[in-house]
Amino acid sequence: MTLDEKIGMVRGVGQFSSRCVGNISPPSRSFVVSGTNITIPPLCFNDGPAGIRLGGSNVTGFPPAINVAATFNRSMMYARGVAIGEEFRGKGIHVYLGPAVDIMRNPKAGRGWEGFGPDPYLGGEGAYQTIMGVQSVGVSACTKHLGPYNQEHWRYGLNVNVDDRTFRELYWWPFMKSVEANVSALMCAYNQVNGTSSCHNAALIGEDGYLRSEGFQGYVVSDWGATHDSAADNANAGLDMEQPGDYILIGGGVYAGLEAAVDDGEVTEARLNEMVTRILTPWLRLGQDQGFPEINFNAQDPDGTDALNLNVNVRTDAHTALVRQIGSASAVLLKNNRTTTTGTTIRGLPLSKSIKTIAVVGQDAQQLNLDCGGGLNECNDGTMIIGWGSGSNNVEFTVPPIDAITDFVQDFATVSSDITSNDLTGGPAVAEGKDLAIVFANAMSGELGFYNIVDGNEGDRNDLDLWWKGGSLIEDVAAVCNNTVVVIHSVGPVPMSSWNNHPNITAIIYAGAPGEQTGPALIDVLWGAVNPSGRLPFSIDDDEASYGTSIVYGIDPFPVIDYTEGLFLDYRYMDSQDITPVYEFGYGLSYTTFSYSSLSVEASASSASFSFVLTNTGSVDGAEIPQLYLGFPSSAGEPDKVLRGFDNIFLASGEKQTVTVTVSQKEMSIWDVVSQAWVVPSGTFNVYIGASIKDIRLTGTFTI
Ligand code: BGC
Repeated sequence: MTLDEKIGMVRGVGQFSSRCVGNISPPSRSFVVSGTNITIPPLCFNDGPAGIRLGGSNVTGFPPAINVAATFNRSMMYARGVAIGEEFRGKGIHVYLGPAVDIMRNPKAGRGWEGFGPDPYLGGEGAYQTIMGVQSVGVSACTKHLGPYNQEHWRYGLNVNVDDRTFRELYWWPFMKSVEANVSALMCAYNQVNGTSSCHNAALIGEDGYLRSEGFQGYVVSDWGATHDSAADNANAGLDMEQPGDYILIGGGVYAGLEAAVDDGEVTEARLNEMVTRILTPWLRLGQDQGFPEINFNAQDPDGTDALNLNVNVRTDAHTALVRQIGSASAVLLKNNRTTTTGTTIRGLPLSKSIKTIAVVGQDAQQLNLDCGGGLNECNDGTMIIGWGSGSNNVEFTVPPIDAITDFVQDFATVSSDITSNDLTGGPAVAEGKDLAIVFANAMSGELGFYNIVDGNEGDRNDLDLWWKGGSLIEDVAAVCNNTVVVIHSVGPVPMSSWNNHPNITAIIYAGAPGEQTGPALIDVLWGAVNPSGRLPFSIDDDEASYGTSIVYGIDPFPVIDYTEGLFLDYRYMDSQDITPVYEFGYGLSYTTFSYSSLSVEASASSASFSFVLTNTGSVDGAEIPQLYLGFPSSAGEPDKVLRGFDNIFLASGEKQTVTVTVSQKEMSIWDVVSQAWVVPSGTFNVYIGASIKDIRLTGTFTI
């Protein structure tokens, strides 16, 4: 390639000159390599992590990662990756801009739902399975955003100070798992890390930095406009590609100077060759040079009316079914009984067909605005299926709860509803005297982007509360209907303690952000076609202080945020402070019960395996999520318990199975800052196996 051709490979073509959210301009000629004719297309990069965003219709609205995390089910994580990959491929998109693996450092973080929650192990498993799935169909994945990138306010320039060990063990961990999955690309973030912007931070992306020292062979691409320094600064620090190529809000466009920097000798041609090689290698490795569909959509045309937009139908019945399946598998049953005035306890779910009159209350039950914010999903005026911003998807075929319920019960019950707003008079009036009231409430957040503010929330949530007085609505409905089922659609924790123990509240389902099949998925759980097995991927508490971190809102200029909490996030922090949350990490009920017995431990310094017998002791079939927490030797300075394994085991009523969970050497290690290596600490480890971080059923020890 000529110098010009190489520059075309590493530089985006411009935000609005692209059919995808990012493109490059490849050489216009073909090359013959080892006898094969190779023509490089304008590589297409597109959002987002939960399915295609922008560029016409006929795509599936998958649930975001936070709900896939709540399934604790690796096969579903993988299957979702395959299905998303198939849709990207069908539109001719070479690079899927996902998975997003940013740790939910604070529950109000605007983009927390795009990733897998606050736990690095769960995030690492989610990242790994997603990438393996997406790349299995020949689409490149691009893990983002390195990072740490954990809040929206001031994201274009805040500085995170994080120590080496905390970075490796928490924020880096899902990126490390991405490297293990052979991810094609990694995206560097807008913000600074330890005083240097991510995309020109050699400690992160340079030859001796985190990524390369852990074996990453793909390319580093900037977040859109996240280049703040000169072409030479960025290229020499390790940035292989700049996107979208021009200036956005506060940065970008610096590779306009790359050719001159090479001419002047500030960047060597060898370095430029390396950048191009890293970009082309995954393209070839995944076989994208042979038979890959041409770009057939146009991201500049969200409505799908432009001639360049063929609106190729990439939806399939299998994808729809999978979204419904993930929706029900990620529903977390938090409560399932109520106490009558005579003191009897009644189980609420699954519902029976003897229920004849049903009230549906709350605007979260109604259809959302399918065309709000030009492909950014910036309203919260109906049911909440996904947050806003680039992590959203086209939300074009959503089946809202009201439609699914009305349809399902038509032969045996009548539905009355008050769902056009959260009306504190109308809602309770409809609920009064009914056999059952289902009350919906939600909370939403998103990406700041071009200052995309929804109901006063600048990406990050302003508080943990349910939106539109959802908490009051729940209380007012429960006051008049003694069989109230609460459904929460939220991007993260919301306060519950003012109503969760209300004697008239029979059941609470935390359904998260379930994607387009939200209504049918909920029916499956409510009427028992699916026995719930979702588990909380974070702890739920009313008080933000219980999480040990905060969002920095109002400092100008850009704030410095010190991650002084170190390894202590969410349940790790709560445990260390003896804080009992309202519902803890890993918690979730089932329509059946499980017993755990007979733990055996086999461990050496290179791996450990733990076997135990799991029995379905109840009367219905269902899946249990056994979780393994390790307690490191006290000298290691780790939190008391850290998640290091889980499984999803389906058992028929009465059935039992021996389950084995293995832990690798790295998973038994801490990051040793002195030797700069993963080291297994010597001493006695505690092993905790149970149904949540607080519901430990078996314990053991081993000594290294
Ligand atoms: C976001 C990225 C996204 C990119 C392209 C940026 O503002 O931070 O996550 O992939 O835009 O839309």
